Amino acid sequence: MASFLQCMDCQKQYPINQVIYTCEACGGLLDVKHEFNRTLISRELFDSRLGALQAPYNSGVWRYKELIYPDLDKKFIVSKPEGNTNLYHVPKLAAWAGVSNLYLKHEGENPTGSFKDRGMTGGVTQARVLGMQRVACASTGNTSAALAAYAASAGIQGIIFFENKNIALGKLSQAIAYGATCIQIDADFDRNLELVREVSAQLGIYVLNSVNPFRLEGQKTIMFEVIQQLKWQAPDWIVVPGGNLGNTSAFGKGLVELYELGLIDKLPRIAVIQAEGASPLFHSYQPNPDIKDYQRGIDELTPMKANTIATAIKIGNPVNYPKAVRALRQTNGVVEKVTDQEIMDAKALIDAQGIGCEPASACSLAGVRKLTQTGIIQAGQTVVGILTGHLLKDPDATIKYHQNTLDNLSASYPNQLLQAVGDARSIIKLLTERE
Ligand code: F0G
Repeated sequence: MASFLQCMDCQKQYPINQVIYTCEACGGLLDVKHEFNRTLISRELFDSRLGALQAPYNSGVWRYKELIYPDLDKKFIVSKPEGNTNLYHVPKLAAWAGVSNLYLKHEGENPTGSFKDRGMTGGVTQARVLGMQRVACASTGNTSAALAAYAASAGIQGIIFFENKNIALGKLSQAIAYGATCIQIDADFDRNLELVREVSAQLGIYVLNSVNPFRLEGQKTIMFEVIQQLKWQAPDWIVVPGGNLGNTSAFGKGLVELYELGLIDKLPRIAVIQAEGASPLFHSYQPNPDIKDYQRGIDELTPMKANTIATAIKIGNPVNYPKAVRALRQTNGVVEKVTDQEIMDAKALIDAQGIGCEPASACSLAGVRKLTQTGIIQAGQTVVGILTGHLLKDPDATIKYHQNTLDNLSASYPNQLLQAVGDARSIIKLLTERE
């Protein structure tokens, strides 16, 4: 069954093995499209692979190979394996957020600690199909860790463009350790993304930011896995943090595909949650029911200078904006924003459940609460929030929160680090006083 690339705007098609990210004719973003084998694809096929020990079906991405790259020769696949992450049922957090049925899908449980591994197995696999020797990305950190790890596995050189500040230490140390060429640049993520595209075009390097549609094919499997874990019953809502909007775009594509293939009976609604200081989608996307053509939102994107404690999503000019608008239109989606205070408090509550996540991920829970309060999410609905990255990615933010030393923010749920002298009596006194 054939796959090909297609412009989302003018529908122009390109062969699957062309190195191209945007349409030559109109500049639109490209989708990877597949001619699905409908007789082969079924819930039973994917269920039969659960618990597989052998590659590639032991991966939570390649388990759905027929949906992400049907005719791919398996010898190209670079997998660690990724996916197969937990879907936590969290009644206490549900009560706090005001819903009865809340799940958190923990993408921080991927091999390098974020959902980017799902995208990177798709992207680096395609790099091998194309015979590319070098792959590059601009990154707020997690993409860099995943790219570095998958490039190392594939024996390809990884190149990373970082901002020279605000990269969480867990992420920076991963990229360096996995052996990528790491460049700190005096430019923010949005500028670095422009730079990596320009430099890569000149040097023949393959770009693995989420403008690369093969990344999104991997990431759409987050939806497949959630829905399979819910025994193929689609939830009412998927709530996801939004930065460069790759996930939002991938989720929309994946959900529509599941629906059109008859694997789910209804489309969940996507809620994108942005940090207030990095919320260009929130500010530009006006879900006015009187406006039939939601695509017109594309013209209305006003890039902003981004700033938030959730450095993963410190993005002011999201490259996937048109695809995200499409996903919102297709799923009757909504966009909300939350403050850094709301993010860090929600994170503290997720962490205190023994689950844990990095700041950006907590947008999901903070967003569920806000959307419940505004009446958009109904208390009786089933909600799945996506946790995008692991707690250990950004230890600095966590420790400073609990020490109450973060600028312009006060910890609502601090867990104070205690100090004691090295003798049992004083420790016993300390513990007794706390009872
Ligand atoms: N959450 C985390 C932990 C992330 O690392 C990112 C993106 C997002 C959410 C936003 O996802 O871009 O699909 O909307 N991080 C990128 C990076 C930009 O370089 O690691 P998105």
